[in-house]
Amino acid sequence: MTMRFDCLYVEKDGTGNISRSIKSLSLDDLAADEVLVRVEYSSLNYKDALAAGGHPGVVRSLPHVPGIDAAGMIAASTSPNLLPGQSVVITGYDLGAGHWGGWSEYVRVPASWIVPLPAGLSLKESMILGTAGFTAAQCVQAIITNGIDPGKGEVVVTGATGGVGSLAVKLLAQLGYHVVAVTGKERLRSTLQSWGAKEVIGREEVLNTTAKPLLSSRWAAAVDTVGGNTLTTILRHLKDYGVVAACGLVGGTDLPLTVHPFLLRGVILAGIASAALPYDRRLRIWEQLAGPWRINDLESLATAVRLNELEEKIQQILKGEIVGRTIVKV
Ligand SMILES: NC(=O)c1ccc[n+]([C@@H]2O[C@H](COP(=O)([O-])OP(=O)(O)OC[C@H]3O[C@@H](n4cnc5c(N)ncnc54)[C@H](OP(=O)(O)O)[C@@H]3O)[C@@H](O)[C@H]2O)c1
Repeated sequence: MTMRFDCLYVEKDGTGNISRSIKSLSLDDLAADEVLVRVEYSSLNYKDALAAGGHPGVVRSLPHVPGIDAAGMIAASTSPNLLPGQSVVITGYDLGAGHWGGWSEYVRVPASWIVPLPAGLSLKESMILGTAGFTAAQCVQAIITNGIDPGKGEVVVTGATGGVGSLAVKLLAQLGYHVVAVTGKERLRSTLQSWGAKEVIGREEVLNTTAKPLLSSRWAAAVDTVGGNTLTTILRHLKDYGVVAACGLVGGTDLPLTVHPFLLRGVILAGIASAALPYDRRLRIWEQLAGPWRINDLESLATAVRLNELEEKIQQILKGEIVGRTIVKV
């Protein structure tokens, strides 16, 4: 008899209702890939909450096990370079989307998805970062690569209390940037300031529904997790040669805009797509996060839950109510 283990299982019944439960599976239920990982920690990202609801834009088929992040120890491997006992991190690719994910005591994945746990990070810290930290770091990298140093002006971060937002605020502040945090949670002003934000403004300040092609020159750069009119507003408010790293869509997917920010101000719109980031660039981002960009006091951003406590957190993240990072102790 093969070993059994628990996971959070999403399925659809005959009437089309989607349900979630903790289910016991056998290792034979997992995909036939090269590396079996005993998961220690996973995390909750906005995309995971969509997957947990069976969202067809994320999940290809049901039943499904969500969890786009996983960290743990290799339990078995047919790859000569990946040995049992090695600590590893897996984020993105198809994990928790087309492939059963990290909300499970075990995952089996292709060897090409495995990143050795970078020296300097614990498994727990790697999941406090998870896809959120990996994405925040790519946003910061895009801002730096495109010529914005701290002397160029203010950097705005939207969705600032969320997973990507909170880590972007902390990282940018540590690197010396003047961070303007945009939030719908005014009550968390002092928390955002403790993370390093120099200013905290409301979401409504970054929502301009006029058709004006340009707005006053205001910010040097932005990390935008919201999309829609928020992103349109930021693009029109950027200073000459400003940069926005666009990674999210919690506020919408439309982008009504004219070309004027690009043609008259040289604004750069940098798209961030974490899931498919090529392996060599992926390793470099993790090395940065474990080394020079190591974020102070990561634990203070994290709430840890068990698989059977995820339900309430899923509801919260869908309503934009999560603060910081939720990790799953599997
Ligand atoms: N492109 C990529 O590779 C990639 C990778 C990771 C994440 N993402 C995307 O980035 C976004 C954030 O992900 P996350 O995991 O950090 O989610 P999260 O923890 O839920 O953070 C999102 C934050 O956005 C704000 N928000 C929520 N609803 C909003 C609305 N309707 N209008 C304006 N602001 C709203 C809230 O912060 P405040 O209350 O502080 O405003 C919320 O905490 C998601 O769209 C996710 O899919 C993309």
